[in-house]
Amino acid sequence: MSHADTFHPFARVLHWLMALAILSMLFVGAGMVTSVEARHAWLLAIHKPLGITIFVLALIRLGFRLTHPAPPLPADMPEWQKLAAHASHWLLYGLMIAMPLIGWGMLSAGNYPVTLGAGLRLPPILPSDAALFAWLREAHRYLAWLFFLTFLAHIGAALMHGLIRRDGVLQSMTGGRRSA
Ligand code: HEM
Repeated sequence: MSHADTFHPFARVLHWLMALAILSMLFVGAGMVTSVEARHAWLLAIHKPLGITIFVLALIRLGFRLTHPAPPLPADMPEWQKLAAHASHWLLYGLMIAMPLIGWGMLSAGNYPVTLGAGLRLPPILPSDAALFAWLREAHRYLAWLFFLTFLAHIGAALMHGLIRRDGVLQSMTGGRRSA
């Protein structure tokens, strides 16, 4: 398999690390809003620093992606599938950046501290405003659903490439060998 067929090793490491982190975040978030008291505080103390880490990694990843193009999709793939692949990838980038920013903005608007542990605390990025807090809270919830659904579609497409089409697209991210 040539270099042109696979993502750069740095992109692959970031991809799998972030996949794990984002999936954890979706479940930590859902667990958090259905918990009370100690468990809620414990999950929130994981949610905030992990979310900010995803934000920083997403910016690094976006910068790397813009300077290191992805391997081309197979020439025989239908145009609509190529379009859907590109659109969903950019949607995932958008959500990886928007979700943490909305979480940070929501806490700022609600006048809550954005603590990251070890005494670290981020400054507010929005003025204190109860209506804005409520709006961002809803946006964070609906975009989390969109994130989860896009994540599922992404996994479905990866499995379709790996198990049905066997066209090397999944291997371009695993670094494995093409079977066809
Ligand atoms: C990729 C990043 C993130 C993902 C995937 C994510 C995901 C989620 C999810 C699934 C929920 C539950 C939504 C609901 O059902 O209402 C949630 C809630 C929440 N998130 Fe995030 N989040 C991210 C980043 C952040 C960041 C960076 C912060 C703050 C710095 C944050 C703060 C919050 C808060 C305060 C809640 C509501 C907690 C509550 O009301 O109990 N999130 N998040």
